[in-house]
Amino acid sequence: MQGRIEEMDEEGLGVLTVDRKLHVPFTAPGDVVEVRGWRRKKHRLIATEYKVIEPSGLRTEPVCPYFGKCGGCTLQHLPYSEQIRFKSDKLSNLLDMMVDVSPSPRVYGHRNRIDIVISTRGIGFRRRGTWWDAVDIEGCPVFGPSSTRVLHSLREFIEDHDPALYNIRQNEGFLHYIVIREGKFTGELMINLITSEGPLPEAFPEYFDYADSVYWSVNRTPSDVSYGEIRMFWGKEFIQEKLDDTVYLIHPNSFFQTNSYQAVNLVKRVAELSEGDRVLDLYSGVGTFGIYLAKRGLHVEGIEMNPLAVEMARRNNELNGVEAAFRVGKDRDVKDLAGYDTVIVDPPRAGLHPKLIRRILRDVPENIIYVSCNPKTLKQNLDVLLEKYGIDYVAGLDMFPHTPHVEVVAKLKAKV
Ligand SMILES: C[S@@+](CC[C@H](N)C(=O)[O-])C[C@H]1O[C@@H](n2cnc3c(N)ncnc32)[C@H](O)[C@@H]1O
Repeated sequence: MQGRIEEMDEEGLGVLTVDRKLHVPFTAPGDVVEVRGWRRKKHRLIATEYKVIEPSGLRTEPVCPYFGKCGGCTLQHLPYSEQIRFKSDKLSNLLDMMVDVSPSPRVYGHRNRIDIVISTRGIGFRRRGTWWDAVDIEGCPVFGPSSTRVLHSLREFIEDHDPALYNIRQNEGFLHYIVIREGKFTGELMINLITSEGPLPEAFPEYFDYADSVYWSVNRTPSDVSYGEIRMFWGKEFIQEKLDDTVYLIHPNSFFQTNSYQAVNLVKRVAELSEGDRVLDLYSGVGTFGIYLAKRGLHVEGIEMNPLAVEMARRNNELNGVEAAFRVGKDRDVKDLAGYDTVIVDPPRAGLHPKLIRRILRDVPENIIYVSCNPKTLKQNLDVLLEKYGIDYVAGLDMFPHTPHVEVVAKLKAKV
């Protein structure tokens, strides 16, 4: 089948419509493509054998040599302004209103965390479309130059000590992952090596003597995951990241917004939209929003399910000299929302728990700031909340350049 790509689907694949719709990876509107093979994935037909016969004038040269093979980025062939246009169109269609997307201040070197598999197939990221294969990389442009340095040191360590690499298919081997994290505004570097049970050569940390914090974690479960029980660390227990005037601690097992340069804009946006004095930061994580707001004199309470994140939020309180009150709790157990001027919600991809939605509709706090990494569940939740709320503000912030993902901030105001 041959024809011109006229549009992109919500995951950023080009759509070729002839007698059916074929979704063609790594293509751009205007490309003329020939598709020879495809497979069904959920409700879509994804092209598996295809070539671009006539490239679109929209295209740009991808920066990363692994683009197209690595499963990480899917949109590097589009100029960044086109990526922003694509995300704005996607949000506008979904939410049925014009939604602007603010570009990320940096589009390479912006990611503050990468999880590298150390496998017999390669040391790098999963090969696109596979769970069992990896693309061997020297560095990741989306993370920046320190990834190249860490991967070089890791290869030296492997050459000198010959540890067993992870066999993904058999789920065996000693080394599994190395997670690299970097405070983009502090320059601090953390690495976390994840292995199965077994002895780690003593010399390991010496290979990374330039890192501020070196961890060794052991995954004793059969799950293929890039975290484990902490066995030992060298150097600092935490590294720090700074967003505007607020400092946050990063621990190997704690979440932090992955694009620091855009996370600053996100916390500032949330602060601008917050009204009144009493704020509830729900799904508060390590206190990213709560502490920033407490620094601005607001009375903040935070609720978060993960005890480690709450512990980190409390430490972040101390570090910043503020007194936001963080506690461990689940969204569905929140009892009373009536006393808050603003409720911030930043749920995981599944969106708000139905019980929480019922509580919001019962207590009707005046302002809700909804931060979402999944516009689909945002839309579903908004449709229900609109019974008692009007939408005051919606905007996208691009936290994830070269991927189809986009963060959304919405402010809802109770109807009078
Ligand atoms: C998208 S993260 C946001 C974290 C934080 N707002 C930030 O910006 O760093 C979602 C957070 O919700 C927490 N979480 C997930 N399910 C939850 C639940 N049922 N109740 C409370 N918190 C939950 C996760 O542990 C995670 O910290």
